[in-house]
Amino acid sequence: SHSVLGVMDMAKKPEMEIPEMYIRPQEPTILSDETTPSLTIPVFDLNTLLHENARDAELDKLYTACKDWGFFQVVNHGVSSQLLEKLKLEIENFFKLPIEEKKKYQIRPGDVQGYGTVIRCKEQKLDWGDRFYMVVNPVERRKPYLLPQLPSSLRDSLESYLRELRKLGMRLLTLLGKAISMEMKEVEELFDDGMQSVRMTYYPPCPQPELVVGLTPHSDATGITILHQVNGVEGLEIKKGGVWIPVTFLPDAFVVNVGDIMEILSNGAYTSIEHRAAVNKEKERISIAMFFNPKFEAEIGPVKSLLNSENPPLFKSMLMEDYFKDFFSSNLNGRSHLEKMR
Ligand code: SIN
Ligand code: FE2
Repeated sequence: SHSVLGVMDMAKKPEMEIPEMYIRPQEPTILSDETTPSLTIPVFDLNTLLHENARDAELDKLYTACKDWGFFQVVNHGVSSQLLEKLKLEIENFFKLPIEEKKKYQIRPGDVQGYGTVIRCKEQKLDWGDRFYMVVNPVERRKPYLLPQLPSSLRDSLESYLRELRKLGMRLLTLLGKAISMEMKEVEELFDDGMQSVRMTYYPPCPQPELVVGLTPHSDATGITILHQVNGVEGLEIKKGGVWIPVTFLPDAFVVNVGDIMEILSNGAYTSIEHRAAVNKEKERISIAMFFNPKFEAEIGPVKSLLNSENPPLFKSMLMEDYFKDFFSSNLNGRSHLEKMR
């Protein structure tokens, strides 16, 4: 494999013709109007979720959201707006650095972490986005030439953000576990000091956004993902009832989605939904996605406490380490990776 960089630099010319390798078959998006059902992704207030008295009813709602939508939004998530504002400026500055600066972080041959996009074959279609992906936990898995080498102000904000989101991620995983009566011990054994990774993406405006996608349709190979739309510009679309539907979110909310691993652990009680990112004609869009996974040594399979004669395992089991390698050795392609675990 090798990797490519820099859709951003290319996209600066508004009169440009979109190169063939970015052009996708047309898959229409169904816009929200009176004929489509409500597109409001369920909203949860973290304070209410954590409040003993309100819990049971809220947990039922959380269960339904994760089953029917695989997506929900969280408000009052506890991450300060100052930190989010600082992070926004730092990420914007990073992507605007000259390409020679960003090249230091370019994905190395055979690897998947760093700046750029891995190219596995000549025919591969490219996404209209510049991205930076890295593993951040456990700490010994950090690549010394990525996070530690980032501009110090970005690194500091990112480190704070990683810590804040780790707390939030563990809380949400615990609540998701509770909502299907998983044993707390099982959640802890899987996720305490689990694998955490992050992807920052800069989607430049595109003169013909309908021809391209910002991020190829996929389901996440994660326990859960927490997405933050850094500069408030939207673009996430989810596949529901066979059509692509753009989703809008409350301004201060994080978007949380169930990943493949959570679908497997929950033995199909939760659903990992296919989604993609669309791009915009005028506006740049920036997002940061944080992925929470079991630890590398964990066995991923339907958790024991949920299984019985009425609920036999629907998925195979596999070591997290192998699952991760396997996922990154192929290109994104809908829910295909999850389906291999049946
Ligand atoms: C995004 O909305 O920018 C990314 C969505 C994803 O991580 O799949
Ligand atoms: Fe995703």
